Amino acid sequence: MKNESGKETIESLLREGRIFHPPSELVESSNIKAFMDRHGIKTYEELLERAKDIEWFWSEMVKETGIEWYEEPSKIMEWNPPYVKWFVGAKYNIVHNAVDKQVKIRKNKVAYIWEGEPGESMKITFGELYTEVSRLANVLKALGIKKGDRVTIWLPMIPELPIAMLACAKIGAVHSVVFSGFSERALLDRILDSKAKLLITADGFYRNGKIVELKSRADEVLDKAHTIENVIVYNRINEINVNMMPGRDYWWQDIVKGHSRSCDTEILDANDLLFILYTSGTTGKPKGVMHAHGGYAVGTASTLKFIFDIKEDDIWWCSADIGWITGHSYIVYGPLILGATQVMYEGAPLYPQPDRWWSIIEKYGVTVFYTAPTAIRMFMRLGEKWPARHDLSTLRLLGTVGEPINPEAWVWYYKYIGNARCPIMDTWWQTETGMQMISPLPITPLKPGSVTKPFPGIDADVYDPNGSSLNKKDIGGYLVIKKPWPAMLRGLWEAEEKYISTYWSMFDNIYFTGDAARVDKDGYFWVQGRLDDVLKVSGHRIGNSEIESALVSHPTVSEAAVVGKPHEIKGEAIVAFIVLRSGYEPSEELKKTLRKHVEIEIGKIARPDEIYFVTDLPKTRSGKIMRRVCRALLLGMHPGDTSTLANPEAVEAVKKVIS
Ligand code: WT7
Repeated sequence: MKNESGKETIESLLREGRIFHPPSELVESSNIKAFMDRHGIKTYEELLERAKDIEWFWSEMVKETGIEWYEEPSKIMEWNPPYVKWFVGAKYNIVHNAVDKQVKIRKNKVAYIWEGEPGESMKITFGELYTEVSRLANVLKALGIKKGDRVTIWLPMIPELPIAMLACAKIGAVHSVVFSGFSERALLDRILDSKAKLLITADGFYRNGKIVELKSRADEVLDKAHTIENVIVYNRINEINVNMMPGRDYWWQDIVKGHSRSCDTEILDANDLLFILYTSGTTGKPKGVMHAHGGYAVGTASTLKFIFDIKEDDIWWCSADIGWITGHSYIVYGPLILGATQVMYEGAPLYPQPDRWWSIIEKYGVTVFYTAPTAIRMFMRLGEKWPARHDLSTLRLLGTVGEPINPEAWVWYYKYIGNARCPIMDTWWQTETGMQMISPLPITPLKPGSVTKPFPGIDADVYDPNGSSLNKKDIGGYLVIKKPWPAMLRGLWEAEEKYISTYWSMFDNIYFTGDAARVDKDGYFWVQGRLDDVLKVSGHRIGNSEIESALVSHPTVSEAAVVGKPHEIKGEAIVAFIVLRSGYEPSEELKKTLRKHVEIEIGKIARPDEIYFVTDLPKTRSGKIMRRVCRALLLGMHPGDTSTLANPEAVEAVKKVIS
């Protein structure tokens, strides 16, 4: 089925069972094909088979990504379930590869092309990156930051964010980046949990044409953040009045003056901690996922090299925020290790109008582009006239991450952004995995909506509740990883029991991802969504109970149940059922107040889309609120067996408000 211009229609592209083969020029010139040729590997299947020898495969990946150790490892991997060490005995620092080494070979190559929301554009070379990282690292040392100390970074999408992360890593300090869209309350929780000594922030940033303040908001909580000794503030906006506490707060631009433009990189153990990144789990409190220097470097750089096929002349753009793992791995460490040139954009995708992203791709000649399904669905809604205004012909490969992509959105992305030439790498991974785990390679035949097959060296499977494999059975089950991988999390910050119970207690010595998936008869993985109480809203991960805790911290709320509901663009919408304390009456006004309250407690991304006031919530005899029942009722499904409820009448109470 072709339309007038000779191109295939969306309908024909969506034909059930259709397989998309990558263009042969792309396959022939790909990094993965070259790797296979070097090792006499003929087929994709053979590649996956050979990579089952993980010690062989990951040592090859060390060479492929140009990782240089200060001292060679004595052992590739040591697995003491549930803890792993990679490149045991190696002396290393990720900054050596990401920055120091690059200065020797790519000093004048552009590392970041940055565009601010108001339109300013700036380039920073690897040489300049080295200087800025070193100057800040010297400042950190002067402020008494030592190896192992935690530094919280609350910065927007400006080059100073990667610079701050790298400066910490350079001296062996541990960074904890907090997404700039989180609230100051969320910032405080993360500072206190990690006992950070220093905060690096900015006066503010631009988003949707408006100024979002950061420092003034941090000030609201800094009196409670008693572990913080100093605050470094980058002057991004310059028009905001910022209070600076003498002796505690310093302007970045001032304090770096006079500091040396070079700084020795701390020689660490490859398994020393690189960063903590908080992510939502099933409890009310986010957990600090820990990643280490060596394995993380190998995992992020090798996946970027072979999945996204990054070569010397590519212009890579990952549209994520560095505040999430996607940005840590694929805007900071992975691309820098490969010496790639990338685009970094500060602002909102629709500002000043819905073609901002496409204008950026055209302006800088982006060749490989990585984004989230929620963004694609939003652009799909806005119509193809926006990308059609721009020349996107430099693109050769596309990618998505964060949540399942529906075939309609996949096909739209393929046709209108990739002009039916660019394969889409739908990459499945998590904050915990640190690196892409299940994903096509540029040689993989694609099925829209499937993340295809595990990356070589990754042993993924789907289990039934008894731990038997459902591989190729096309039956839904628990998505698990059976062998350690280099960028595997090293635990949860000061929460060992949580680490064991969350990931390692479902099956013996097998990592449980929290996701449901099925593997079809061709061995293709289809990720179906979270099995635990974690929501995916616009690709962002938010715990149901985190929002519930925020809600019940409001004086009017007695009980709350938060559930997800399918949403056309966001993937999931947040729905809250609320029982008010006696003396308070439901009202539209109160709904607004509660939405605002969640925004203050967590951030805008966690605000409920819908709020229902109920007189009672279904509970078990032990008093646990049954979200499952609320959700079933909300979606018009049968609530299942309610005879075990302590208060079966609550089912009627909930039904009443949603009808
Ligand atoms: C969860 C992890 C990894 C970077 C961003 C998210 C879901 C992730 C996919 C995909 C279907 C996906 C899973 C996973 N997810 N990628 N390609 N297809 N689902 O990181 O916030 O740690 O969330 O995102 O449910 O467990 P995260």
